[in-house]
Amino acid sequence: MIKHTLLPASEFVSRRDKFAAQMEPNSVAFISANKEVTRSNDTEYSFCQDKNFYYLTGFNEPDALLLLIKIAGAQAEYQSILFCRDKDPMQEVWHGRRVGPELAKEAYVFDQTFTLDKMDEQVTSLINGVENVYHCFTDVDLNKQVDLWIKQVASQLKMGKRSPTVKFDCSDIIHELRLIKSEAELEIMRQVNVISGNAHQRAMKYSRAGRFEYQIEAEILHEFASNGARFAAYNSIVAGGDNANILHYTDNQEELEADQLLLIDAGGEYAGYAADITRTFPINGKFTEEQKAVYELVLKSQIVAIEAIKPGMTFARLNELVGEVLTQGLFDLGILTGNIDELLKANACKKFFIHGLGHWLGLDVHDVGDYHINEKRQQLREFKPGMVMTIEPGIYIPKGCDVEPKWQGIGVRIEDNIAVTESGYENLTVNSPKTIADIEALMQS
Ligand code: GLY
Ligand code: MN
Ligand code: MN
Repeated sequence: MIKHTLLPASEFVSRRDKFAAQMEPNSVAFISANKEVTRSNDTEYSFCQDKNFYYLTGFNEPDALLLLIKIAGAQAEYQSILFCRDKDPMQEVWHGRRVGPELAKEAYVFDQTFTLDKMDEQVTSLINGVENVYHCFTDVDLNKQVDLWIKQVASQLKMGKRSPTVKFDCSDIIHELRLIKSEAELEIMRQVNVISGNAHQRAMKYSRAGRFEYQIEAEILHEFASNGARFAAYNSIVAGGDNANILHYTDNQEELEADQLLLIDAGGEYAGYAADITRTFPINGKFTEEQKAVYELVLKSQIVAIEAIKPGMTFARLNELVGEVLTQGLFDLGILTGNIDELLKANACKKFFIHGLGHWLGLDVHDVGDYHINEKRQQLREFKPGMVMTIEPGIYIPKGCDVEPKWQGIGVRIEDNIAVTESGYENLTVNSPKTIADIEALMQS
């Protein structure tokens, strides 16, 4: 059984400290929780908290609102205020326990907490005299609500009230903080990787001709949930044969055939953090010559990229390294034809490697944080210790394309989760077999 770690309240307080340190004096920041979303009639989807709100609070109930108020002239001082649902015996009997304002103040270490019905009165009083407002501009509901509160205060000008005049989008401040993971966050990301790696192993052992993609998905979800990662971080991709050439294939309805590869892209979510792992393996446990050739090439390119990761490296440079390996390899296999120098110059592998090499990973699977993209669409941001990313090269040769038939229907992606360290990298994906020898050995065990 895996030993799980959750983040202590002090981690969330320290995030709020870092956020507030970047606020202008005499300002207020609003960050709102998600609402429940109806699935049909009177049933809801499983609740998923807004990740910016979660990052700053650790509070996992819908409808809440966080206010951070930075006092004029006091650089380091700010107040944290949470509005949340009240305790309600009837609602709690039907729908589950609520934290309530009293326990929230103590357990989540806020300066003040109020019930939701006090929001209008409290907010209009709290923002009186404040100059600047921060909120996430993409949060349309909050945007409207904040404007309403400002108007309410402005309408009382003659009574000596003064409303904020400047609005800032605070998404970037939160996103930049989220991009660099603390040691406690990395520990959780190691754990969700181990849980997800076990799920990939389970899927490899269970796969065989005659089973259906959804049956393999069920094994994966079982392994996630029974180890505390109750939900997948994203819909699992379980793609047999040519389905692997549909990048975000999630139908997962087809029967598996013996001579096919199975591509599985699946990661659990634990304590809010995502894993994002892809493995590709032969359904009957043994790679054919063609499958082996494409697989070895993708693996080689992935290892080249991973081993180059260190502070100062960029996705742009990693893309060049991977592009050279894949283009040369596809030429050697006869899948790309022509003049090799021209092919390399044109980065011709992109015909078959049709997506990005990787992305930031954290609370979201496609995590937040700027990539510093230039006009040529190169990602020039230099890596720093604490960043976590995926490295996921792939080669996709769909049926019916203009390549020799023996290659058609092969789709391979291999995806690991990598943290940047002071001296290089740490591969968090430690227990998902990826060499041909390890995969074949596991599947025959
Ligand atoms: N699982 C989606 C991705 O790899 O980006
Ligand atoms: Mn990914
Ligand atoms: Mn993925």
